[in-house]
Amino acid sequence: MGSLKTRLKNIEKDFDQQLKSLSAPQQLTSLKTSFLGRKGHINQLFSELQSADKAKFGQEINQLKKAIEKKLSLSEKKLLQNKKEDSSFDPTIPGITPPEGHYHIISQTIEEVEQIFKALGFIRRRYPEVETDWYYAEGLNIPKDHPARDDQETFYLKDDVVLTAHTSNGQLREMEKIKTPPIKMINIGKTYRRQASYTHAPMFHQFEGLLIDQDINITHLIGVTNFFAQSYFGPERITRLRPHHFQFTEPSFEVDISCNHCKGTGTINGKPCRICKSGWLELGGAGMVHPQVLKNGGIDPNKYSGFAFGWGIERIAMMKHNLTNNLRDLYSTDINFLSQF
Ligand code: FA5
Repeated sequence: MGSLKTRLKNIEKDFDQQLKSLSAPQQLTSLKTSFLGRKGHINQLFSELQSADKAKFGQEINQLKKAIEKKLSLSEKKLLQNKKEDSSFDPTIPGITPPEGHYHIISQTIEEVEQIFKALGFIRRRYPEVETDWYYAEGLNIPKDHPARDDQETFYLKDDVVLTAHTSNGQLREMEKIKTPPIKMINIGKTYRRQASYTHAPMFHQFEGLLIDQDINITHLIGVTNFFAQSYFGPERITRLRPHHFQFTEPSFEVDISCNHCKGTGTINGKPCRICKSGWLELGGAGMVHPQVLKNGGIDPNKYSGFAFGWGIERIAMMKHNLTNNLRDLYSTDINFLSQF
């Protein structure tokens, strides 16, 4: 067993050399395994001992084992300490900033609209998207067999229940909620129609204004319409009313806004403007609330009058940002397109 002594010495020498060459605390693990592990050098020595040698050399092997353990633990502390002091690690360097998102253009537009009308005292409302026929149509003067229903290509869920095709369902609901005017509501919500084209989506958003009080007339509607056009589109824009028909307003109008491209003239360098029709762009419907609708909402039409309007969120966003291509781009997941806004 004379050679065992030499082997002990060699193992220790070998260990010391390997320990010296370590540079990271992680390397300690494999060194530890190769010397102290189940199949490591130390266990190998133990397994080779004859029972007679155990008393003689067992102690020496154990001493070497303890020495290795001690050196390993000291070395680990040192390596960890060095890592902390490593000058190549600068904790003050800023991290990599992940790309920052922002609100979708539709959400931004909804927020802008809400703020513009809030400045005039209109209160934001949300009314049901799944609606009964009464609030959606019948209570708004649109009887079951009336052709006006065809305009809206409604999704019926059951005989009497629809996905509302306009935010006008909020009119009667607001009257019932407030009961005694003044009423100043801006109802912004999702609306649904069986339509799909470059300019029409099956789901889109509308914002519905309703103002009811004593002595409200068309000039108030014009004032509010102009205020909105100038706040949202720019101070030089104006609106006009064009006669139209809705069952729930009398008189009814289409509201147009002056075109920014040709400055309302309809021509550019003697040629017709490519954006508008003769200087005007269509904004949406409006009118004075029909007396029957006021009655249906529990309000006395002899005492109160009001106006309402309902315009498209997607439509105004496209007009403002000159998106002439495709309304459906607004609902794409194209990050290049969406990050423009
Ligand atoms: C209405 O929906 C009436 N309820 C508006 C109204 C309210 C009139 C209060 C009087 C008083 P109209 O069907 O025209 O009206 O729709 C209004 C606006 O919704 C349109 O001008 C357009 O901007 C938008 N719109 C309509 N259909 C779609 C569609 N499929 N996709 C995107 N926007 C649409």
